[in-house]
Amino acid sequence: MKRLMAAAVLAAGLAASGAVQAATVLITGSNRGLGLEFAKQYAAQGWTVIATTRKPAEAKELNELAAKNKSVMVERLDVTDLDSIKALATKYKGKSVDVLINNAGILGDVPKQSFGNLDRDLFRQVMDTNVFGAFAVSEAFRENVAASEQKKIVALTSLLGSITTAGPGHTYYKASKAAMTMGLRVLGSESRKQGVIVGIIAPGVADTDMLKEFGYKGPLTVSATTAVEGMIKVIAGLTPEMVKKPINYDGKSFEW
Ligand SMILES: NC(=O)c1ccc[n+]([C@@H]2O[C@H](COP(=O)([O-])OP(=O)(O)OC[C@H]3O[C@@H](n4cnc5c(N)ncnc54)[C@H](OP(=O)(O)O)[C@@H]3O)[C@@H](O)[C@H]2O)c1
Repeated sequence: MKRLMAAAVLAAGLAASGAVQAATVLITGSNRGLGLEFAKQYAAQGWTVIATTRKPAEAKELNELAAKNKSVMVERLDVTDLDSIKALATKYKGKSVDVLINNAGILGDVPKQSFGNLDRDLFRQVMDTNVFGAFAVSEAFRENVAASEQKKIVALTSLLGSITTAGPGHTYYKASKAAMTMGLRVLGSESRKQGVIVGIIAPGVADTDMLKEFGYKGPLTVSATTAVEGMIKVIAGLTPEMVKKPINYDGKSFEW
C-alpha cells in the first residue's frame, strides 16, 4: 500500500514538473483540410505532433503553426513514395507514437472513374494513395505505435466507402476506402497481441478543399473544425470492442 502511494506521489510530482512525456500523434497529409485541423487541435491539447506533408516548403499554414508551437514538427512524407516512408521511419526509429492517423487521401477526377469512361492510370493513383499508402505507413510505424502508451492506428474512411449504401459514381474512391478498411482490419487483428487498436473513422461530409475541388454542391454537414473535434473524441475513446464498424465523427457507427 505504502509503495503504491509512493508511486502515485512520484507520478504526481513528475506531472507537476512537466517531466511526464506528452502523447505523440503522427498525421499524414497535414498541410490542409482535415489533416491540418488535426495538427492544430492536437497541438492545442499539448500533444507532440509529427505533422507530415509531401511538400513541406509549400505548407504555409502548417509551417506557421510549427513556428508558434515547438511541439509541432513538420516532416516530409509522400505516402506513395516508399523511400520517403522509410526515411521518416528511420528518423523516428525507437520513438513512440501514441496515435497514427492515416489521413492522406485523394478523390481523383470524378468523370474518369465512371463506368463507360474508366481510366486505369487514375485507378492506380487512387489505390496507391488511399490503400497502399495507408498500409505502408501503418506497417512502417507499427512498432512505434506498439511501443507507446495509447497504441492506436486510425484511418479515415468515408460514408462513400460503405458497401451497404453504395450508389452510383466515385467508383475508385469508394473501392479504395472499402479496400483500405479491409487491410486495416487485417492489421488490427494481426496487431491485437501487441495491444494495438486499429480504428476506422469518418469525418461526415466536411467542408474541405477536397469537396470544393470536385464541385460538391450538396449540403455540408460539418465544418472541418467540428469534424476533427468529433474524431479526436472518437479516437480518445477507442476500445477494441468499438472497431467492428466504422465510426463517424459524431460517435455513431455505420455499416461497412
Ligand atoms: N472532406 C470530407 O468530407 C471527407 C469525407 C470522408 C472522408 N474524407 C477523407 O478524409 C481525408 C482528408 O480529406 P480532406 O477532406 O482533408 O481532403 P484534402 O483537403 O484534399 O486533403 C487531403 C490531404 O491528403 C494529402 N495527400 C494526397 N496525396 C498524398 C500523398 N501521396 N502523400 C501524402 N499526402 C497526400 C494532400 O496533400 P497535397 O496538398 O500535397 O495534395 C492533403 O494534405 C481523406 O482520406 C479523405 O478521403 C474526407
